Amino acid sequence: MAETDRIRRLYDERAESYDRSLGLMERVALGPFRREFGALLEGETLEVAVGSGLNLPYYTPRVTHATGVDLSGEMLRKARERADALGLPLDLRQADAEALPFADASFDTVAISLALCTIPNPAKALRELSRVCRPTGRIVLLEHVRATAGPLALLQRALSPLNERAIGCHLARETIELARSLGFEIDAERSRLLGAVRLVTMRPLAPQRATLGA
Ligand SMILES: C[S@@+](CC[C@H](N)C(=O)[O-])C[C@H]1O[C@@H](n2cnc3c(N)ncnc32)[C@H](O)[C@@H]1O
Repeated sequence: MAETDRIRRLYDERAESYDRSLGLMERVALGPFRREFGALLEGETLEVAVGSGLNLPYYTPRVTHATGVDLSGEMLRKARERADALGLPLDLRQADAEALPFADASFDTVAISLALCTIPNPAKALRELSRVCRPTGRIVLLEHVRATAGPLALLQRALSPLNERAIGCHLARETIELARSLGFEIDAERSRLLGAVRLVTMRPLAPQRATLGA
């Protein structure tokens, strides 16, 4: 089975328990960053791998139109329930981050959280985020990555194979370094939990870089 199909199935199965499964991590490291993530979204906004919609409560009126995509139909169902409960208008589509079903330069903000760790080809997804973002727009990432503190990075590396098998998630991906290596210019970067959780805003790639193969 292709890795993307495996991940879709895993998240369809996990959708009901996903929010609970984040547990302490959500309270300690992610929750406070989700508020800041929400505050960075503006204009026509696309959230890629929107999941169950845990960022939706932090969207502000600066978001003029919101669209979410995810691989998993069951996660999208949870996002729909949450958006409806919040009274937030939200277009949802089932789609792969590696091949987004939108025209070039469609959005002012393209955001993603806790998903570049799971998407099989994160470079391809980063290029897609860039492609659908307007040249004047911003890309916002909230991701867990390889920690800057050595002992935690070692622990992440030791636990990652288990996590990859269980939920397709790589604990120690160097996602921000990957973005830099692809040519993204980072505007701002903040971190928590010894560098293991990062909130980053960056500009879309200049057109000549975006056309180089992933
Ligand atoms: C750990 S969850 C994060 C959900 C949400 N963004 C959050 O912050 O809670 C990872 C999500 O990425 C989605 N996903 C994984 N691979 C994907 C892909 N290639 N395209 C779109 N969504 C994907 C999964 O279905 C799942 O909803």
